[in-house]
Amino acid sequence: MRVLVAGAGGREHALVRALARSPRRPELLAAPGNAGIARDARLLELAAEDVDGLVRAARDESVDLVVVGPEAPLVAGAVDALEEAGVPAFGPRAAAARLEGSKAFAKEAMSAAGVPTAAATVARDVEEALGAIESYPVVLKADGLAAGKGVVIAATEAEARIALKDMLVERRFGDTSVLVEEHLEGEELSLLAVCDGERAVPLAPAQDYKRIFDGDQGPNTGGMGSYSPVPGVDAERAREIVSSVHQPVVDLMLAHGTPFHGVLYAGLMLTADGPKVLEFNVRFGDPETQAVLPRLRSDLLDLLLWATRPGGLAGVELEWDPRWAVTLVLASAGYPASSSKGDAISGLDAVPANVEVTHAGTARADGATVTAGGRVLNVTALGDGPAAARDAAYAAADMIRFEGRQLRRDIALRAVERVA
Ligand code: AMP
Ligand code: GLY
Repeated sequence: MRVLVAGAGGREHALVRALARSPRRPELLAAPGNAGIARDARLLELAAEDVDGLVRAARDESVDLVVVGPEAPLVAGAVDALEEAGVPAFGPRAAAARLEGSKAFAKEAMSAAGVPTAAATVARDVEEALGAIESYPVVLKADGLAAGKGVVIAATEAEARIALKDMLVERRFGDTSVLVEEHLEGEELSLLAVCDGERAVPLAPAQDYKRIFDGDQGPNTGGMGSYSPVPGVDAERAREIVSSVHQPVVDLMLAHGTPFHGVLYAGLMLTADGPKVLEFNVRFGDPETQAVLPRLRSDLLDLLLWATRPGGLAGVELEWDPRWAVTLVLASAGYPASSSKGDAISGLDAVPANVEVTHAGTARADGATVTAGGRVLNVTALGDGPAAARDAAYAAADMIRFEGRQLRRDIALRAVERVA
């Protein structure tokens, strides 16, 4: 069996590593991959967004399954094109990927499916948006894809004006509308479910750290760390949330003739009134995947293949390692505003074998591994409790050095405090 993973980040490396653990021993390809993925898969020189290229490569290489990692090719119809060419592909078709591609579409779907979410209105110009704001802080979201950076929490009208001008006048994210959303209080939870068009099967819950600095300070990033499981969200609770959030959306999409296959990722706020959806993503989370997949005892390859078939997940129960996983992100200088490239990375060989280092933004230069992006590496360790996993992850991360390395020191501290 030959499997092609499309993407170049830490999430895709974690997918490749988990697929490599499959008893079916698949032959792994990645497009375009990175310097770390190159050790576990054969790289194809092809951007993950190059839909025609993916179809061609999948045919030329007789690929049995394509796993599309990032959202952009999904929203652009990569799965539609692959399936039309007769290649099984894991992920939603474009019509279902709109759940991530358009926040307004996601809100309409949640409203139609009766899924609890933050109250929101769609506005097309600055004055209309300001008129829709009832109180501060308020959350302003660019409608389309913005790599996690299109959300601003404005504390005052002046801040709201600046953000709205950026989104609607400068069109920094290319959109013509924004969502003006109620600000919710609570703890965040990433709950992902694998879907087969009919049924949503929960993955282990995870928590993600979005801000660049300790104590949730500074700007939002793609994610600076994660851990799994999450205190207070046991398997039973996760199933309840999936049956009130993911399943109604899967039912709705099926009823509309646009069945959802792939990962439906709900970013939730656990509020005093129960869980409410902040956003849907239609793919694995990054860096949640790096913490979740090392705990999956079931075969990931089976799971992904079954999800491509209507109703293919009937009767599937996933098995999980009871240990905790903590993932740390090592980012380059300047991230998230910019990123530093070409800095030599040392210490990778010193990391113990039971710690999984996945690469996000790395490249090879003159025989050395160097930085090549904002988020550079992820370090994931397992432990019998959150403290043990955390200690092992930090001990390994501190062996890895590069100029300007950024690393949050408080990842999973919440879990350690809750479980102690
Ligand atoms: P999103 O990309 O929609 O997940 O938003 C990015 C981050 O902004 C979330 O992870 C939250 O930390 C924050 N956020 C988004 N929506 C809300 C909301 N309605 N209330 C409070 N915080 C929010
Ligand atoms: N960790 C957030 C995301 O994958 O969008």
